[in-house]
Amino acid sequence: MSELLLTENRDGVLVITFNRPDKKNAVNTQMWIALREAFCAAAQDNDVVCALLCGAGDNFCSGVDLASFGDVGEGEEHPFESAARAVVEFDKPLVAAAQGAAVGGGATVLFHADIVYVGTTLRLRLPFASLGLAPEWGSSYMLQANIGAQRAAELFYTAEWVDADKALHLGIAADVLPDADLFDHALAKANEIAQWPVNALREIKRTLRQHHLPAIDAAINAEQAAMVRQAGSPENIEAITAFMEKRKPNFRGLS
Ligand code: COA
Repeated sequence: MSELLLTENRDGVLVITFNRPDKKNAVNTQMWIALREAFCAAAQDNDVVCALLCGAGDNFCSGVDLASFGDVGEGEEHPFESAARAVVEFDKPLVAAAQGAAVGGGATVLFHADIVYVGTTLRLRLPFASLGLAPEWGSSYMLQANIGAQRAAELFYTAEWVDADKALHLGIAADVLPDADLFDHALAKANEIAQWPVNALREIKRTLRQHHLPAIDAAINAEQAAMVRQAGSPENIEAITAFMEKRKPNFRGLS
């Protein structure tokens, strides 16, 4: 397993940690592959009852590494896609603990966690419009399912920042904790879950998710098609270049 993605079984809870704090836990190609492997292995491993996803340092995860798009050849599937599917298909309870930045994939993965605890420093953002891109990870369906169509549309169209209190109010988070207590709280809850038989938990998850899965699948297909149209477009290139150059993008006259 990659040093950039840590895994540790703590009494039946597989703790999976994004571990690239100097880049706000941005997920590069190697980490997407490791994430897929971690979730696929956890699904098969009888010693894992539940998973807890968290980020090392002050941030949860800043999403896809914007510098890594060039790693994937034309026509090749980005390793993000199979990692995303492994999380969607994970058939045991998934708890998440998110503090600081939760952006892009670092936000949309949370919509697939069964329970999300956030730290008071949470700042969550769906930056797709600002990147000239389309939604991903089935978020175009899951966010609406979780918080309602209008509230989801507001977050997608404005790409505004969501703080911890708003995440709680919207129903993106189950609870807000001081950052210092966040991990211990989430682990205690995950351990509470992990005392129960794994097959019963699997059946509960199946019943909770059965109506969502076909819709998530359809959403992912539509998102991938939209992503193909937008990735590499002039507005996408301007957004990525602006990020790298640490300046504001200028989209006027590009479309
Ligand atoms: N991809 C690549 N590098 C990233 C990154 C990402 N998604 N997110 C952060 N980083 C890097 C920055 O380039 C910077 O690197 P440097 O120190 O070598 O210059 C470092 O992490 C710290 O980030 P910085 O932007 O200086 O921190 P900040 O506190 O001002 O802002 C964020 C943090 C997360 C709000 C900001 O980095 C950001 O918006 N990142 C992009 C997130 C994004 O759009 N993700 C979705 C991709 S689909």
